[in-house]
Amino acid sequence: MIRYKALKELGILLLNNRKEIQIWLSNDYCPKYFKQKIMKKTFLVLIITLLIFKVNAQYNTLRIPDTLAGTNFDLSIKDTFKQLKTGNQTITGAINSDFWGPTLFINKGDVVHMNVKNNLNDSTTIHWHGMHLPAVMDGGPHQVIPPGTLWQPYWTVKNQASTLWYHPHLHEMTLEHISKGIGGFIIVRDAEESALALPRKYGVDDIPLVLTSRKYDANNQFVVQNTAYGDYMLTNGTPDAEVSLPKQFVRLRILNAEIERAYNLGFSDNRTFYIIGNDGGLLNAPVAVTRVKLMVGERVEILVNLGADALGSSIDLKAYNAGQPQGFPGGEPNTTGQFGSLLNNTTFNVLNIKVAAATSNAITTLPSTLINNTYWTTADATVNRSIAITNGNPGPGSVPFNFDNTSFNISRIDKTVNLNDIEKWTVTNNNVFGHTFHIHDVEFKIVARNGNASAVGTHESGWKDVMYVPVNESVSFVAKFDDYADAVHPFMYHCHFANHEDGGMMGQFVVTGSTGINETKESISFSLYPNPANDRVFIQLTNADEEVYYLTVTNINGKAVIMLPQPEMQKGIDITSLSKGIYFIHVTDQKTKTISTQKFVKL
Ligand code: C2O
Ligand code: CU
Repeated sequence: MIRYKALKELGILLLNNRKEIQIWLSNDYCPKYFKQKIMKKTFLVLIITLLIFKVNAQYNTLRIPDTLAGTNFDLSIKDTFKQLKTGNQTITGAINSDFWGPTLFINKGDVVHMNVKNNLNDSTTIHWHGMHLPAVMDGGPHQVIPPGTLWQPYWTVKNQASTLWYHPHLHEMTLEHISKGIGGFIIVRDAEESALALPRKYGVDDIPLVLTSRKYDANNQFVVQNTAYGDYMLTNGTPDAEVSLPKQFVRLRILNAEIERAYNLGFSDNRTFYIIGNDGGLLNAPVAVTRVKLMVGERVEILVNLGADALGSSIDLKAYNAGQPQGFPGGEPNTTGQFGSLLNNTTFNVLNIKVAAATSNAITTLPSTLINNTYWTTADATVNRSIAITNGNPGPGSVPFNFDNTSFNISRIDKTVNLNDIEKWTVTNNNVFGHTFHIHDVEFKIVARNGNASAVGTHESGWKDVMYVPVNESVSFVAKFDDYADAVHPFMYHCHFANHEDGGMMGQFVVTGSTGINETKESISFSLYPNPANDRVFIQLTNADEEVYYLTVTNINGKAVIMLPQPEMQKGIDITSLSKGIYFIHVTDQKTKTISTQKFVKL
């Protein structure tokens, strides 16, 4: 290591001082014989250095995802490629990038608009994981974005400060689209979190870490089908990642975006670190641990103190997955096959951390308390539901798990929840393997494991949207289904292992409010102005009491080009992205859900 470092530095020195060496060599004082000798030696050392550098190259600088902030976000989902291994580049998928996507900074209380353009050759969706929003904006399997279409959901940010994420969710395609690398972080800010003395300099002392792993074929392409686990770690899409972090308290926002693998995280010197937040935001107070288990879809925010580390020293964040039992995702002993991986049941590096100088205004103390969460309790719940994890009937390419012996059916609503009800859900796993359970729409409070409130881990004591359901356990949560009712568009609940979810381990619920459906089934009537139009088309409803639930613009071939859930009518429809021609606007009525169509011409 020392030798490698010294040689690396020498190589850099030679590269940086090439000019001076050349000038010196061309100097008359230097005899020709020496010149040749020195030249030869210089190049020899350079070549050897480069060779050793290549052979010993252990780490790559951690990529920090770009950021987007404000209230308007342009996201382009695309196929791309990335150099992940020596040799061929790997075909990947990404948002505005070459793997993964930008971190979106949003503020509680703001209305945010997403302009999601699907530039893939496939339909997909983008789900805002953990976000409390109307079902029609949720980006689950029902909000399909065809290729070439711009999908424009928007909502008021009601979540508290938290680390959320966005990812594809098209039924039976989730594994494939997530495996490509499509996704991104969402960081919600609010006044309570901002008032705390916590590290908050993105990429400096506040680091997002998305953990995943991939298998490669002989051409360096991702192996996706029938693959539960990768062989090689990717941290923010960086293989063998290293990062320089300042000598002070550093905040890591860690997301498990794997297909199936869980991580038992800790530091190489077993130091204590502090959990300050879970899926849905900050805990009441930091929780000191030396290990934390992170399942697929879960997030954890931790503080680690590097203040006592020597400048230039290094420490590893590792997955202590060696010795995990069968049933722990990634605990399997096999290294090959559908559930095999070189990382299975081993302890492996997630991130090499080099300790660098402290920043100005460094956070050097651990806050003793964080925020005041008021959690729901079992006593608050007026409705109780039980869900059993059961064996399915595996078809080709399917997996043998589902809920209550029923596999997902996109046209069947499994549960109906009354708006504003507080419910307790208990998920029981008498299956052969551990699973996760995720619910859309709301954050919940885990209230019991095996009926025992004190068995809930302190590491999962905050607001959650994913929970681990190990073999032979039952886990209960309580949630309030407030704000958003929609009798047509459901929310999902599912195991977050993409292969299980695609295989049918998913169900859906609608939240219904008191607004009754109009039985007359009269469709909405409207006109468009100006028509022809240049940049904006406005919709004039014949009956001002009517409301638009959904608006789709299609081209002359019937292909959707713009999709606007619950459009803000007063703003009109921005048609600047359309080329000249004839288009149709299809308007779905809020009450009757019937669709009416009008034609317009784009100039
Ligand atoms: Cu992160 Cu239904 O998903
Ligand atoms: Cu599962």
